Amino acid sequence: MKLVPALVLAALSTACVHREAGPASASGAESTGGGKAVAAPLTIELQPGITPAKPLLGLKRGVNLGNGFDAPSIGAWGVTPSEAHFALAKKAGLDHVRLPVRFNAHALKDAPYTIDAEFFAKIDWAIDAALSRDLYLVLDLHHYEELMTEPAAHEARAIAIWKQVAERYKDRPDKLLFELLNEPCKELNPERLNALHAKLIATVRESNPTRMLIVDGYFWAAANYLESLVVPAADPNIALSFHMYQPILFTHQGAAWMDPEFQSSGIVFPGPPNAPASRSTAAESTDWTRSWLDSYERNPASTNPSSVDAVRREFDIATRVAAKTGRSVYMGEFGAIDFAEPVSRENYLRLVRREAEHRGIAWTLWDDGGRMQGMDVHEGTWIEVVARALLNDQPGGPAPAVTLADPTPSSTAAPTSPAAPVGSAPALDTAAAAE
Ligand code: GLC
Repeated sequence: MKLVPALVLAALSTACVHREAGPASASGAESTGGGKAVAAPLTIELQPGITPAKPLLGLKRGVNLGNGFDAPSIGAWGVTPSEAHFALAKKAGLDHVRLPVRFNAHALKDAPYTIDAEFFAKIDWAIDAALSRDLYLVLDLHHYEELMTEPAAHEARAIAIWKQVAERYKDRPDKLLFELLNEPCKELNPERLNALHAKLIATVRESNPTRMLIVDGYFWAAANYLESLVVPAADPNIALSFHMYQPILFTHQGAAWMDPEFQSSGIVFPGPPNAPASRSTAAESTDWTRSWLDSYERNPASTNPSSVDAVRREFDIATRVAAKTGRSVYMGEFGAIDFAEPVSRENYLRLVRREAEHRGIAWTLWDDGGRMQGMDVHEGTWIEVVARALLNDQPGGPAPAVTLADPTPSSTAAPTSPAAPVGSAPALDTAAAAE
């Protein structure tokens, strides 16, 4: 299989100006007519003959607790991690939670780069909240933006941060995994990234000789940079990670944290659509977005950029890398914004989720508590369309009821200080289906 390099790379490189997430709010971009397209429910036929990747411990299905501890300060992006988050993950039958954490916003700027004790206590609480429910927890260093723009200046600090984190959690069970750096990008090019990963791995290994580590590829963890990752050959406990957001003009349509050329709307999955997209002015005047939208509106399914094949091309890379390296490959994020038409969103999430499972790749929904929300802790329930995509293999099935009997998120929010005792999860509605 082959990518369409020019288009895909253009799409990726432009995409990459984004990814300093923020509070999810509606975009007010100008746009041209259209935008009323609706997709038909997608029936998925998985391809035979695919060799699954090596399992990543017992991780198969999970959710991110995004925009909480990775926001500039807790609550700044509208998410305060709570027991209800973990209870809802468990309730849906998931086996892990990925916890994005901006440790760099809570560490001294100068040596010894001490991490704030109160903040650390909150991370202790989150780890306990997962482990006490028998969930794996992927602890991820997220949004270290300064490291991406000035890698040399921040290297010592990044190493010191991981030294502290690794030492603090060295006696935790193997169900705690460390993901060294979310979505490396910008100046942290593949060569620098490999060199930095080597140092971070050596640091963590001083206190955690066998804990499972996860490393993301360059370019916002794009699948086509998985192959540039170089990790110590003698260390079997390192998994390689990618994020799945292609086609990005579908998954990120109207995302407030993206550039103006992403602000079109009415893009369905799969294409071609039964009505044109509503193009933002910037999308129309930017070569790669205009050309993408033209192909999306005109091309049959076989060559359409919003298609099952476009998704499979990403997965084919991951499958190939898994076979070549013998390592587990992890899909630490995937998602589609809720501006997308609901049938399309369900089609996309179900397809990506099922492809991952078919290929032995553990998946973790990106849930930002906003426009890419999966769990609604205030209502104590999962968003219906997301639950259907994640828990029903076929379209048209009943929405699985994934609800907490007694959602009390305010009383179960992450403690201030010190860490609260574990075990205060709200009672679960035992009648709700997990699968
Ligand atoms: C990445 C970014 C996050 C963003 C998400 C979806 O995880 O770090 O901030 O919301 O991708 O774009």
